[in-house]
Amino acid sequence: MKKTLYLSFALMLLITGISSVSCKKDAEETPTPEAPYTPTPYTLRVPTGWSTPVIPDFNPTTVEGIRLGRMLFYDDILSMNGRSCSSCHHPDKSYSTPLFITSGGESISVPPLINLAWNTDFEWYGQVAHMDHVPLGDFTPEFFDPNMDTIVARMKAHSLYPRYFNEAFNIKDVAAISSDELKLKASYAIIQFVRTLITDSSKYDRVMRHETAFTAEEMHGSAIYYTEAGDCFHCHGTPLLTNNVMTNNGLDTVFTGENRGYINVTGRLTDLGKFSAPTLRNIELTAPYMHDGRFQTLEEVIEFYNSGVHWNSPNIDPIMTKPFKEYGLMLSAQDKADLIAFLKTFTDTSIIHNPEYISPF
Ligand code: HEC
Ligand code: HEC
Repeated sequence: MKKTLYLSFALMLLITGISSVSCKKDAEETPTPEAPYTPTPYTLRVPTGWSTPVIPDFNPTTVEGIRLGRMLFYDDILSMNGRSCSSCHHPDKSYSTPLFITSGGESISVPPLINLAWNTDFEWYGQVAHMDHVPLGDFTPEFFDPNMDTIVARMKAHSLYPRYFNEAFNIKDVAAISSDELKLKASYAIIQFVRTLITDSSKYDRVMRHETAFTAEEMHGSAIYYTEAGDCFHCHGTPLLTNNVMTNNGLDTVFTGENRGYINVTGRLTDLGKFSAPTLRNIELTAPYMHDGRFQTLEEVIEFYNSGVHWNSPNIDPIMTKPFKEYGLMLSAQDKADLIAFLKTFTDTSIIHNPEYISPF
């Protein structure tokens, strides 16, 4: 999948509307690269009832790191072709994009970057153990300009980055460290920012906090979701709406290439066809669906669970093959509409406009 990422780049720019550096304006402060190294520890907000996120010791979160990372996330300064993280992970689409990338018959849907501090596996089949390393692996050289001298020169000439790198990581001179180190620290800062992208203000959350109530349709949909009728909660459970499991929900019977899933990581035959069960938070905003973007609408997804599951798929999750499921879920048209109404209560548009998340440019 790595090689495929750049192919749809031009199209992606059109879609996201992210354009050139020329429209950017520098932030308010004046640079002082000599500032002392006193990073301010930052504690992630943990919504009530959620577990404590595990932050790796090698990349503690700091106010200065987040500030640097947020700017790099929206900036094309690291890339060779005007791309930024936000080109593919756009706030309006819950830090995803409506496009998926196709090359040589393989497609991949762009995951939303939300609540990832609570994730335990990264990318569609867990290719990366620590999120801090995602930017390094998947977007090189298509993302990072392979000519590091160019990146260093751009950084040095910038009015803010020298000071930001120093304050975040005690790097007095971006030209004095190795290319690998500079890339690593840029990635660490970006991921510190990504960890702050938390959504817990959907209608669903407000109902859980007793601040509002579901409609009758949403209530009926939630009953399908949380009972044997739909069984969705087994893999997309509360409160993250993912259980962080690698499993096979029965999409296919034959698996090739990237579509072989988790087996590509572990080499175990029992992992053939297993993929990360994604969060359903903001699912309304992140079409197309499934790792290869095969479904365009939630209606298509629900019809798959209702009548399209491949029972004979190798390693299919036992939840999908419970007795009587051989006839499908047997949901009525009203059931399906109500289930979708419930899924739409997971939408939290506040993250699109949150002043701490949006582009600083
Ligand atoms: C060309 C489009 C593109 C660009 C640019 C891009 N991404 Fe992604 N991102 C993707 C796709 C596609 C995936 C899924 C990859 C896979 O599973 O193989 C992904 C996956 C991820 C994931 C894993 C999410 C999860 O739920 O497991 C993270 C984190 C991430 N990207 C962060 C970033 C950061 C940070 C940047 C900038 C340094 C970036 N991405 C730039 C398309 C892009
Ligand atoms: C056995 C575990 C399991 C159950 C039960 C399950 N899912 Fe999934 N779900 C998955 C997995 C795994 C994926 C990703 C599959 C892939 O892309 O290969 C997924 C993907 C999805 C997606 C697409 C997510 C995206 O970001 O593209 C939606 C929507 C979804 N499921 C909704 C539901 C609903 C609604 C139910 C109940 C009717 C349900 N799921 C039941 C495991 C499950």
